[in-house]
Amino acid sequence: MSGANASRGRFITLEGVDGAGKSTHVGWIAERIRSRGQEVVVTREPGGTPLGEQLRKLVLGEAMHIDTETLLMFAARREHLEQVIQPALQAGKWVISDRFTDATFAYQGGGRQMAAARIAILEDWVQGAFQPDLTFVFDVPTDVAAGRRGGREPASPGAASASDRFERENLAFFERVRDGYLRRAAQFPRRMKVINANRALESIQKELEEYLVVS
Ligand SMILES: Nc1ncnc2c1ncn2[C@@H]1O[C@H](COP(=O)(O)OP(=O)(O)O)[C@@H](O)[C@H]1O
Ligand SMILES: [Mg+2]
Repeated sequence: MSGANASRGRFITLEGVDGAGKSTHVGWIAERIRSRGQEVVVTREPGGTPLGEQLRKLVLGEAMHIDTETLLMFAARREHLEQVIQPALQAGKWVISDRFTDATFAYQGGGRQMAAARIAILEDWVQGAFQPDLTFVFDVPTDVAAGRRGGREPASPGAASASDRFERENLAFFERVRDGYLRRAAQFPRRMKVINANRALESIQKELEEYLVVS
């Protein structure tokens, strides 16, 4: 992995469209690493800090300009890095985040079609050269992901909505998000591992284990 010294923890991020299986795998990965005697911090984006969770509510709930949406994502990320991620890594802990900057390239870039070069400016501004040590991209066909998300839809029209601004997007949006992830993974093949998540959990975990033992 990217030259991290022995005392610094590792930063692992989980990516993929809604319904791909990130939340399903995050606890398992954390346990695998804890079983090796490492301290693990599990976190998520957007969010991860009290301010970040407030920003998450706004971004997931309120209609806004794409630039505003992207800026808020990076504002929350700046706080997340400062308050949670960097201190934990410096203390030798491992950090596992359910989403990070690759999600901005996939959702705001792929999904909402903002130019990657514009996102890269904010990426550089907020995190410089800092990147995760390892990223799993859980990949499933968009119709499979939609089926898995099904249980989160409101029970009846007019019921309080269980889905957010992104989950309510159409399949074409999620196709672009998926493509956005795959393009990004092709650009950074050493860091980003595309995991076929359209199969049994045990089979997926066996592959995750192979990457975790060498990291
Ligand atoms: N490999 C899998 N096979 C079958 N169902 C799965 C698999 N992975 C996740 N699921 C189910 O799909 C749903 C969405 O998974 P979740 O982990 O919440 O996705 P995400 O966090 O990526 O949105 C959950 O009900 C979960 O139990
Ligand atoms: Mg989830």
